[in-house]
Amino acid sequence: MSALLEVRELGVGAGGQPLVEDVDFAIGRKERVGLIGESGSGKSLTASAIMGLLPEGLAASGSATLAGTELIGAGERTLSRLRGRELAMVFQEPMTALNPAMRVGRQVAEVMLLHNTSQNRRSAHAAAVELLDRVRLPDPGRAARAYPHQLSGGQRQRVVLAIALANDPALLVCDEPTTALDVTVQAQILELILEGTRDRDTSLLFITHDLAVVASVCDRVLVMYQGRIVEAGDTKQVLSAPEHDYTRRLLAASTLEVSK
Ligand SMILES: Nc1ncnc2c1ncn2[C@@H]1O[C@H](COP(=O)(O)OP(=O)(O)OP(=O)(O)O)[C@@H](O)[C@H]1O
Ligand SMILES: [Mg+2]
Repeated sequence: MSALLEVRELGVGAGGQPLVEDVDFAIGRKERVGLIGESGSGKSLTASAIMGLLPEGLAASGSATLAGTELIGAGERTLSRLRGRELAMVFQEPMTALNPAMRVGRQVAEVMLLHNTSQNRRSAHAAAVELLDRVRLPDPGRAARAYPHQLSGGQRQRVVLAIALANDPALLVCDEPTTALDVTVQAQILELILEGTRDRDTSLLFITHDLAVVASVCDRVLVMYQGRIVEAGDTKQVLSAPEHDYTRRLLAASTLEVSK
């Protein structure tokens, strides 16, 4: 069976300047793939290019198909049909994903109404409260009526995750989803991401600086360096016997111990 996401010769450039080059990888159904690499190596741009969310002035080239649908250069109509439905994302800062002026329950409900996965407001609201419960927001019925600023950072990220999982996406893209949170909350959010993807056979592209997280979450890992993927393979293999110099340095700088 072919992969869910197929990325071929993906590039991102600003004017004539290449920022990401020659990126090739695939993600199978139910597969969890980590993307690691130093700051500025092109991880977020790779994810944004796939989501069709590159910042102004940047352009993507090459190909990325999701279940056969080309994403690179796709029109806003195609992209908005897929985003929030087949393709969902969670970023580092939850506030960027939330509407500050709308109650969070409504925001979860809206994404289901938008994609017709809930038939009416009443069922969408009930489903939203269920989702808020699934991401373990205490007192979900009450939490649904809160505005984002009335929640903590960790609670907001739970809401973002509820929105991302609302329509059972085929692929969830996470870009440092726990970096802004304190350590205990990080572990809880990570567990929820794992649960949410495992339960529904969702594939995962997970960007992180944390090699321990990669080791515990990802089946395979891609290592980026200066805009290119320099190493890719089975997580255990790459982390225990890195082939590329850069991966070796990355591992040497971390406290992770991987058993062979
Ligand atoms: N809007 C932009 N215009 C021009 N260059 C950009 C823009 N956004 C990012 N870049 C450059 O592209 C490169 C890759 O950026 P990217 O955000 O993908 O890095 P990253 O691997 O996600 O880093 P981090 O781990 O710090 O999040 C960097 O050198 C960055 O300076
Ligand atoms: Mg980034």
